[in-house]
Amino acid sequence: MDFSAAGKASTEAKRFLARLGLDQNLVKRIAIAMYEGEMNIAIHGGGGSAELEISTDKVEILFQDKGPGIADLELAMTEGYSTASEEVRSMGFGAGMGMPNMKRNADSMIVDSEPGAGTRISLMFNLSKTGPER
Ligand SMILES: Nc1ncnc2c1ncn2[C@@H]1O[C@H](COP(=O)(O)OP(=O)(O)OP(=O)(O)O)[C@@H](O)[C@H]1O
Ligand SMILES: [Mg+2]
Repeated sequence: MDFSAAGKASTEAKRFLARLGLDQNLVKRIAIAMYEGEMNIAIHGGGGSAELEISTDKVEILFQDKGPGIADLELAMTEGYSTASEEVRSMGFGAGMGMPNMKRNADSMIVDSEPGAGTRISLMFNLSKTGPER
């Protein structure tokens, strides 16, 4: 719930990838998806980590937390579904758009969550072919 720190990783990643000369649209998609994952870790996951790995053909991001986990993944992936508190909503979060937004922007999204044990989300972005405008 440290809102002063949340957002830093995606901002740094965006700067780093732009400096490498990656396609602007791709950098934008990665930054959006990373921001959503990062905020979810801060708001729902009780804190955790985001690792970014870049290779010649792809960028992979792995989010990990040891929070409460996601009981119903299908619900969590549904636009508009949110368990955010009133306090969080009053800060402008909790529209239930983060997970669908991650899926839409990434070329692949794998969620591995165990209620009570935590959540791992792996995102992959192809570098070889530029994705469609999203
Ligand atoms: N890392 C996580 N740990 C536990 N629950 C999570 C995690 N990420 C998402 N969830 C659950 O999935 C729901 C949907 O997430 P999503 O990001 O789509 O919406 P939100 O975070 O509630 O709102 P928004 O992202 O629009 O501000 C969350 O409300 C929460 O219940
Ligand atoms: Mg969210």
